[in-house]
Amino acid sequence: MLVLGIESSCDETAAAVISNGKMCSNVIASQITVHSQYGGVVPEIASRKHIEAINLVIKQALNDAKVTLREIEGIAVTRGPGLIGSLLIGLSTAKALAYALDIPFVGVNHLEGHIAAAFLAEKAPSFPFIALVVSGGHTNIYLVKNYHNFQLLGQTRDDAAGEAFDKGAKLLNLGYPGGVVIDKMSKNGNPQALVFPRAMKDSPDFSFSGLKTSLLVMLKKRGCDFPESQLPDVAASYQEAIVDVLVEKTIKAAEDNGISRVVVCGGVAANSRLREKFAAATAARNMELFIPPVILCTDNAAMIAAIGEIMLKNGRRDSLDLNAVSRWPIA
Ligand code: KG4
Ligand code: ZN
Repeated sequence: MLVLGIESSCDETAAAVISNGKMCSNVIASQITVHSQYGGVVPEIASRKHIEAINLVIKQALNDAKVTLREIEGIAVTRGPGLIGSLLIGLSTAKALAYALDIPFVGVNHLEGHIAAAFLAEKAPSFPFIALVVSGGHTNIYLVKNYHNFQLLGQTRDDAAGEAFDKGAKLLNLGYPGGVVIDKMSKNGNPQALVFPRAMKDSPDFSFSGLKTSLLVMLKKRGCDFPESQLPDVAASYQEAIVDVLVEKTIKAAEDNGISRVVVCGGVAANSRLREKFAAATAARNMELFIPPVILCTDNAAMIAAIGEIMLKNGRRDSLDLNAVSRWPIA
């Protein structure tokens, strides 16, 4: 089945074409340069930028896949969770196209999309598996039993891991989004140079707000910013504190549930240290690890089309009165 995917839940306008589980194109227009001057995503600006980009992005996705709009057999679009104004741009576009082309469409959960990025790989995970969904808005561990059955095993009680990266980078004046900058800077730093807290040791849940506070306290105590020469050590130590708990709690969830397959997805799964430590931790326990390529970890429409195609093939159809939702837990 030839499916067009559309994603506009935050600050990336994305479209992709999937054919029978294979990615034919994957186009992403990022708004990062616009939002970075404000230190974070400005929802109203995001909506306006989505309107400007969406038709061009879809056209590019069709061109790259060498298909015409008339050949598309179904549309999958992110319905939530996300910024409501941003979601509405993608959803309205999807509905208009589905109506005009007289083809079915489905509204997809963004988190299910992130997990489905793993299905696009040459070697896809079989069920059941443990999934860590780690992004700017979520840090959730699920036991995934099939395409529609998710059991939440752990979640953040406050900030998401991506938020911890972004807020830490902001405190260090490293710019937005923080994850990429901290990742890059950490490559030249010593992760053991400074001691940051690892919260909620004996719980399946996460907490990252104390980590951000401890960096703030450190900065206040010094009365000045860290000199440039020390920044790699600070970044590497801060990153290590986030990565350690993500790996530890996910592996524990897998062990406790007797599962040997682990999927790591979402924007923070692009982090090189996280990928490295998950590879080591799973190899040491004879577990199979599935992390999508970096381009499919951060927001994209291929992952939305991937799960959308499965839903459409199972007969799922949404009607034209479907609304966007800002919050939408999958378990
Ligand atoms: O999945 P995503 O693109 O959007 C959401 O659904 O939130 O995730 C964005 C988050 C941001 O917080 C960003 O800082 C983080 O992913 N991120 C990273 C890296 N690349 C993106 N965090 C750590 N290391 C990276 N390399
Ligand atoms: Zn996302």
